[in-house]
Amino acid sequence: MAKPIAIDLSQEKATQIVQEAMQQFDLEVDLLINNAASYIYAPFEQSELLKNHQMIMLNVVAMVDLTDAFIPAMLARGTGAILNVGAQGAFSPMPYLSVYAATKAFILWFSEALWVEYRDRGIRVMALCPGATRTPLLIPLRVFSFHSFIHNTRKVKEGYSGSHFGAIQSSPHPAFADANAPLFKLAQRGWG
Ligand SMILES: NC(=O)c1ccc[n+]([C@@H]2O[C@H](COP(=O)([O-])OP(=O)(O)OC[C@H]3O[C@@H](n4cnc5c(N)ncnc54)[C@H](OP(=O)(O)O)[C@@H]3O)[C@@H](O)[C@H]2O)c1
Repeated sequence: MAKPIAIDLSQEKATQIVQEAMQQFDLEVDLLINNAASYIYAPFEQSELLKNHQMIMLNVVAMVDLTDAFIPAMLARGTGAILNVGAQGAFSPMPYLSVYAATKAFILWFSEALWVEYRDRGIRVMALCPGATRTPLLIPLRVFSFHSFIHNTRKVKEGYSGSHFGAIQSSPHPAFADANAPLFKLAQRGWG
C-alpha cells in the first residue's frame, strides 16, 4: 500500500523528515526515484535569487541528501536502485534556463559517477534524461507551442522501464533530434 508523505523537498531538513517518516512506517527504500524538480525560464538577471536557490535545493541538494540517506541501507542489503531524473538539457547549456540546465548536468554526472562506484556493489544507478514532454511542468513555458511538442511520453515511460534500468543513462534516442529541436533552438551549442 502506498504511503504518501507531503513535503517540500526544497527545505533544508527535507531528507530528515522523509527518513523519520520512513522509520515511523517501518519502511525500507529499495528503489529511490529522485524526480521532483522546478525551473525558472527567464534571463538570468531577471530570475529571483531566492527561487534559484530553491531550485538548486530541490533539483540538486535534495537528490544528494536522499541518496546519502538511503545508500547505506542498500549497501548493507547488497541490493538497491536509484533513478535520478535529469533532462536532455543536461547535455547542453540552455540560455534562459541556465540554472535548471546546470542542475540537470549535475544530476547526470553525479549519477554516472555513482553508477561506477556502486555497479559491483549491488546498487544500480541511472540518470533518465527525457526530452520535452507534455506534463504540467512545462505549461508556463509559453515559448513553445504545444503543437510543436513531440509526444514522447511513451519513450519516457520506456526509459523508466526495467529493460533500461541496467544502463548508466537513458534518453529517448534516436528521436531526440526531432523531438527536442524546439527546445534546443534555445541553446547556442548543440550536440555537434
Ligand atoms: N516535462 C518535460 O518536458 C521534462 C523534460 C525533461 C526533464 N523533465 C524532468 O522530469 C521530472 C518530472 O517532471 P514532470 O515533467 O513530470 O513535471 P510534473 O508533473 O510537474 O512533476 C514535477 C513533480 O515535482 C514535484 N515538486 C515540485 N516542487 C517540489 C517541492 N518543492 N517539493 C516536493 N516536490 C516538488 C511536483 O509535486 P506536486 O505535484 O505536488 O507539485 C511534481 O510531482 C523533473 O525532474 C523534470 O525536470 C521533464
